[in-house]
Order: sequence, then C-alpha cells, then structure tokens
Amino acid sequence: MKFFLDTADLDEIKEAASWGALAGVTTNPTLYSRIGGKLDDFYNHIERICDIVDGPVSAESVAMTRDEIVRDGRELARIAPNVVVKVPTMVEGLAACRTLADEGIRVNMTLCFTVPQAILAARAGARYISPFVGRFDDISENGLAQLEDVVTAINNYDYTENTVNGEQIEIIAASIRSANHVTQAALMGADIATVPFNVLKKMIQHPLTDRGLESFLKDWEKVKNA
Ligand code: E4P
Repeated sequence: MKFFLDTADLDEIKEAASWGALAGVTTNPTLYSRIGGKLDDFYNHIERICDIVDGPVSAESVAMTRDEIVRDGRELARIAPNVVVKVPTMVEGLAACRTLADEGIRVNMTLCFTVPQAILAARAGARYISPFVGRFDDISENGLAQLEDVVTAINNYDYTENTVNGEQIEIIAASIRSANHVTQAALMGADIATVPFNVLKKMIQHPLTDRGLESFLKDWEKVKNA
C-alpha cells in the first residue's frame, strides 16, 4: 500500500516527505480553503506542492460541466507532469474524464461511494478512483464495507485498455479518519490510503514502542557505565 497525504499544507507535506514514506498528495477545495488559500494563488500553490513531492499530486476542478472540467483539467495538467486532475464522480465528470484520459491526462475520480460509480469511473479512463470511507461513517453507514466492495469489484476486471498508457487503475482509500481505517483498507487490498497529517502521525505511534525505547535507553546507560 502507498500513502498519500490528504492536505494542502506545505509544512505538513514537507514534514511527511522528510519521513521517506510519502508517495503523493491529494488536495481538495476544502483543504485549500483551510490553509487560507486564495484563488489567484491556487496554481502556484499546486506547483509548490509538486516541487516537494516526488509522486502524484491531485488538484481538483470545481467546474460543473464537462467542457469546463476539461478546460480546468488541461490547465491543471500543465502545472507539472505529476499533477493528477481530480474530478467528481458524476455524469459531467465521467465525460470529462474520458476526454482528459484520451489526451493522456491522468484523472482521480473523487467523491466515489459505490461499486457502480467506481466501475463507470474505470470505464471512463480513470487512473485513480477514490472511494470515501469516513463520510459513510458520518451518516452511520459502513464506509469500510463499501470500500471493500469497490476494491473487489474493480480488481475483478482489467481496465488497462482504457487508461492512460495502459496503466493499472489504483484505488485510493479516501476520507480516512483513523489509523484503523488504514489498517482495514490495507487488509482488503486498497492500493493507496490518502491520510490527513494527524492520522499519519498516529500511524507511526504505539505506546509499546515508546516503552520499549525507554527501557532500551535505560539499559544502554547500564552498558555504558559497566
Ligand atoms: C481526498 O481525496 C478527499 O478529498 C478527502 O479524503 C475527503 O476527506 P473528508 O471526507 O475528511 O473531507
């Protein structure tokens, strides 16, 4: 499983990149607005993220028609070679995905909740599909079960004749709220988890690791003084 960071915060991205395990970044309009992002700085900000991250950086179109999404997608893709255009899973988004994929532009189909949506996204040439876990949990439904169904259904078929350069579709477990979400997503074979920085920090921590380190350090002092 690969890890993407789900943020637009440059400090978080730099810190996570320095850990050596970061494979990409996903942003969305909410994440950009959370860091005080301004419209006229959006493209520059995505470029700054692309300079830090050696991997795919998803930048979202907020347009609602296929023509506008395609126009946004082309402009976003010009920012850097590692930009992936994030497009909502809806009719206009599907049509735009097909056009962008045919032009060699990689698309991450976002706001995906069900197997039929995921299959349509795959058929439309998506390079990444992002089933949302936490937002199902928010409405007291089982987001992990939905994710598992998407992983199974997509992996039942070969979509490579459809994708940019015949690349394999990767499923991004999105809307991740806890380390347990990541555990379960890995067990069911999701290719990628995109995680907020607070979840990434929790993923590396365990009290037994801390306790083990403490006793190793104490015992090493004894060794040094022996
Ligand atoms: C990532 O691609 C999604 O936009 C993000 O994971 C959504 O997370 P949220 O449901 O916590 O807003």
